[in-house]
Amino acid sequence: MRIIGADFVALCNAEFDVLKQGGICFDTNGILEIAPYMQLRQKYKNVEAQFYDSCVITPSFANMHLHLEFSQNDGILHFGDFGKWLDSVIEKREVLMSGDLQSAMQAGINACLKSGVGFVGAISSNGLDLEVLANAPLRVLYFNEAIGSNVQILDVLYQNFQARFKESQSKASARFIPAVAVHSPYSVHSKLLQKVLEFAKENNTPLSVHFLESCAEKEWLMQSSGYFSAFYEKFFNAKLKSFFSVDSFLDAFSDFKGVYFTHCLEAGSKEFAKIFRMQGKIITCPKSNRLLNNKFLDINCIEQNGIPLCIGTDGKSSNDTLSLLDELRIALFAYADMPLEVLARKLLLSVTRNAFVDTSLPLGELKCGNWADFAVFKLPKVEEFLAQHLILYAKEAQQLLIQGKEVL
Ligand code: BEZ
Ligand code: FE2
Repeated sequence: MRIIGADFVALCNAEFDVLKQGGICFDTNGILEIAPYMQLRQKYKNVEAQFYDSCVITPSFANMHLHLEFSQNDGILHFGDFGKWLDSVIEKREVLMSGDLQSAMQAGINACLKSGVGFVGAISSNGLDLEVLANAPLRVLYFNEAIGSNVQILDVLYQNFQARFKESQSKASARFIPAVAVHSPYSVHSKLLQKVLEFAKENNTPLSVHFLESCAEKEWLMQSSGYFSAFYEKFFNAKLKSFFSVDSFLDAFSDFKGVYFTHCLEAGSKEFAKIFRMQGKIITCPKSNRLLNNKFLDINCIEQNGIPLCIGTDGKSSNDTLSLLDELRIALFAYADMPLEVLARKLLLSVTRNAFVDTSLPLGELKCGNWADFAVFKLPKVEEFLAQHLILYAKEAQQLLIQGKEVL
């Protein structure tokens, strides 16, 4: 049993309660008590205790969408236009997966940890990130991704997906959860989608999917025209029509609860209403969205539709770093029409509570019984806790505890 305390303990509950001179008593099984620090010291006299001056303790952060396998991109991929970016991904895929990928992925994990991230939703395209993630101190929701439009090789693609899933199951633990990702409506054949969703249902796994990220994707789904028409001719020598409409794709997920829909930049009220009914979550990746689509998600609209908003860094394929603190900072500046502290609180809840609300994982909020995963951030000397201070001034976490143990 141990006690930690700080000037502020931000519970990250729905009410956004913050304890001044707060303390948390915990062991490796979870949080035992949250109370004023001195009160805990008096109650548990012989228990090891540590107080962090000028700091706030929060739940450890969740980076709900990243592609660790693309960690070698530094200036290789084209930014500024979604179509040119996707062309560059196809052209440079092999280069990005070769060389010292393991070191780059390890550096990516370190960047996550240093920014207070204790939990990642990692999208795995090839399984190359399995070992490094399974051996990391992070908690991992490991999304084995299915992708493929070529009907002639669907069986091979599906077998490859199943094999990667099986391999990831060999690492399964309370810390490492194998799951399923569908790449996107433009890149997954309807027959492959059907098989993969049946598989997810049978295995009762969490699901993640890129959805309506670009105007090009929306045009393809609505009219089978534009960028993707030329894309399929150029790279697949195929004259294709979209496998789905916006509705038929979304409706394929209607039996699943709590799906993580990533991006949704081009979604509207009809799609948001459906996602709400499915108890889905939306993950936004502001820096990625700026770099590929020159746009930020309308987060007011997500909230008005009652959908929990989460945040991810995406991969270095569409970001310069995997620091979630950096992502929050950019978002704080991007949404200039929202009152600053209101926005800062929403952002903080997006990387804590929202990621786990309505799931079976006891994370995201500081409360008795939840797992002992904490991030500690240095603040300027202030009387009252403001979320904006954390996002503006903390460039790194001071400490990170996962399952009650320091990892920095
Ligand atoms: C495919 O593998 O079929 C694919 C990949 C990226 C975009 C579209 C299709
Ligand atoms: Fe992504």
